[in-house]
Amino acid sequence: MQAQFNHESFVMIPTHVTLVEVGARDGLQNEKQPVDAATKIELVQLLQAAGLRELEVTSYVSPKWVPQMADNAQVMRGVRRKRGVRYSVLTPNLKGFEAAIADPAIRPDEIVVFGAASEAFSQRNINCGIEESIERFRPVVEAAHAHAIKVRCAVSVALGCPYQGEVTPDEVERVVLLMKGIGVDHCGIADTIGVGTPKRAQAALERALKHFPLHEVSGHFHDTYGQALSNIYACLEMGIHTFDASVAGLGGCPYAKGATGNVATEDVLFLLDGLGITTGVSLDGVIDAAAFISGVLGRKPVSRVGNALLAKRASASA
Ligand code: HMG
Ligand code: MG
Repeated sequence: MQAQFNHESFVMIPTHVTLVEVGARDGLQNEKQPVDAATKIELVQLLQAAGLRELEVTSYVSPKWVPQMADNAQVMRGVRRKRGVRYSVLTPNLKGFEAAIADPAIRPDEIVVFGAASEAFSQRNINCGIEESIERFRPVVEAAHAHAIKVRCAVSVALGCPYQGEVTPDEVERVVLLMKGIGVDHCGIADTIGVGTPKRAQAALERALKHFPLHEVSGHFHDTYGQALSNIYACLEMGIHTFDASVAGLGGCPYAKGATGNVATEDVLFLLDGLGITTGVSLDGVIDAAAFISGVLGRKPVSRVGNALLAKRASASA
């Protein structure tokens, strides 16, 4: 049978994509070995030198829950900020927000409140149910706006939950609507455990697009099952042009056992460069950052592109 080309299904993919680099936060939050603040600061600096303009730096969460982020203020204080770069931090409640803004010199440009599409994950990750999480976020959003700070939300486990199993687009839309109701500016849809595939990714992101404008919707794909790039391509076909990514493919959520890192920034850049999509980010610069952090952690990046380019560098200098 001859394949038919369907003109109806051919959409224009974006010509420019914004990458939100989450390596310093999502990438390191679950790291078992201690990573000192100086290393985190150097990582952020290498990433901004590579041209990344949106950097998730740290989290103001309980140090008992996530010890790796206990140095949040120290890291924020150490980063030499670059004009035009937006620095964001996670703040799950007013306590976290107040700590994040206590010192005006290290105030973030954006905060992230993170909810979940399943009750079970919400309980495990932030110790409360979905409705209660929204009530905790409400004053955080109000306070952030009062300080002219933008608010992004993450809707975790939107494509599958380690405790509940399947998560439906209706469940995703319920949380999207609750987030919209409290006034968050941007909606990120997250595949926390990397089980999503393109059509399911599109179905979930479509629900966010019903309530937020295209430029305020993003995808956050962990790559546990190797589907993240396919999911990103599927989102590009919908016109979505903002994606989270993590240098060297670092990352994982402490409350999503077995989930590996985010899609590697290097892999996303290689894909986008190949598609002729601009990002303003230097792949070579991101490889520098990947080489740095991988050297500190003592292991190779979890990125095919990263490893291929590092091998090329090594053979060129041999
Ligand atoms: P809780 O236990 O419900 O809070 O924690 P509480 O109000 O009952 O307070 C208990 C203790 O925590 C108290 O201390 C508070 O002071 C302290 P104690 O009196 O026992 O010494 N506390 C805090 N300390 C520092 N900063 C704070 C804070 N709040 C309370 N902001 C809380 C609620 C959310 C804080 C807790 O459950 C927590 O920290 N969870 C960690 C959540 C987390 O960081 N998860 C990983 C990030 S999300 C993620 O990775 C997903 C994402 O990448 C998207 C995706 O992939 O899905 C974004
Ligand atoms: Mg994540």
